[in-house]
Amino acid sequence: MAVELLSGKTFLLITGASQGIGRQIAVTVSRLLEKGSKLLLLARSENGLKDTADQVSKEVFVDFKSVDLSVATADQLSEIIRKSIDPSQFDRVMAVHNVGSVGELSKFTADMTDFDEWRKYYDLNVFSPAVLNSVVMNLFGDNEGVKKVVVNVTSICSIRPMKSMGYYCSGKAAREMYFKVFAEENPNVHVLSYSPGPVETNMLKTVAESAGDEELRTSFIDMRNQNKQLTTEQTVNRFVEILRGQKYKSGAHVDYYDDI
Ligand SMILES: NC(=O)c1ccc[n+]([C@@H]2O[C@H](COP(=O)([O-])OP(=O)(O)OC[C@H]3O[C@@H](n4cnc5c(N)ncnc54)[C@H](OP(=O)(O)O)[C@@H]3O)[C@@H](O)[C@H]2O)c1
Repeated sequence: MAVELLSGKTFLLITGASQGIGRQIAVTVSRLLEKGSKLLLLARSENGLKDTADQVSKEVFVDFKSVDLSVATADQLSEIIRKSIDPSQFDRVMAVHNVGSVGELSKFTADMTDFDEWRKYYDLNVFSPAVLNSVVMNLFGDNEGVKKVVVNVTSICSIRPMKSMGYYCSGKAAREMYFKVFAEENPNVHVLSYSPGPVETNMLKTVAESAGDEELRTSFIDMRNQNKQLTTEQTVNRFVEILRGQKYKSGAHVDYYDDI
């Protein structure tokens, strides 16, 4: 069954597309897009991006650009997109803000005293998706005929505190609230904050290996030992199913396990 939110000639921008969930979103969603649609994949690792590009549907065009999103300015981001596409050529734009890092996991909140560490974390995980989102909306803003879909890849950590994950949990909460405000202000844009569940990626391995809180670390190790985590295919298939159903209010947090 077709996915209405992916219909028409689409420009699909995905951040953090060099591995993990971002790569899988590129691969799975590319197969659902209309012929002639275009993907633009962003992350730092050029090799990783190239591997992803090699795996997407041959029916769509794909560009990738190595960029450190924690330092890229709005002008640089705009330039990257304008070099890749002409916004007037598309019926739809979909921006998937998937980039993320877990940050320093060895510290508990009372030890998080370094402003630079805070800024570095928020630059990548909160400010960069917000700025990139504005850039994309402004590039397509003049054309009312272009349908707009924004996906924020969030986490259960945006609503559930986890010990020794102060940067990650607070960053996910702030990022999600930004997209909620954006959805309120832009009723013509379809916004989804998708929480993918625990997924076998480098990020999950890092938490299992390095979380400062022993109980949390053990629970992640146990989950991986019992193979209870999800594959990237499982979570992205569920993401597509959620998009297809559209049974949520724009801006909502929808989790892999939600019964909708
Ligand atoms: N895995 C889970 O269990 C889980 C659970 C809940 C939510 N999530 C969320 O899902 C999203 C994807 O996570 P993942 O598990 O797939 O993690 P991952 O495998 O570590 O992928 C993270 C992606 O972000 C990119 N990235 C990191 N720093 C960057 C920077 N400075 N500039 C540009 N790109 C950067 C990485 O590429 P480069 O290193 O090449 O730059 C990579 O493509 C994140 O937002 C994460 O919070 C994951």
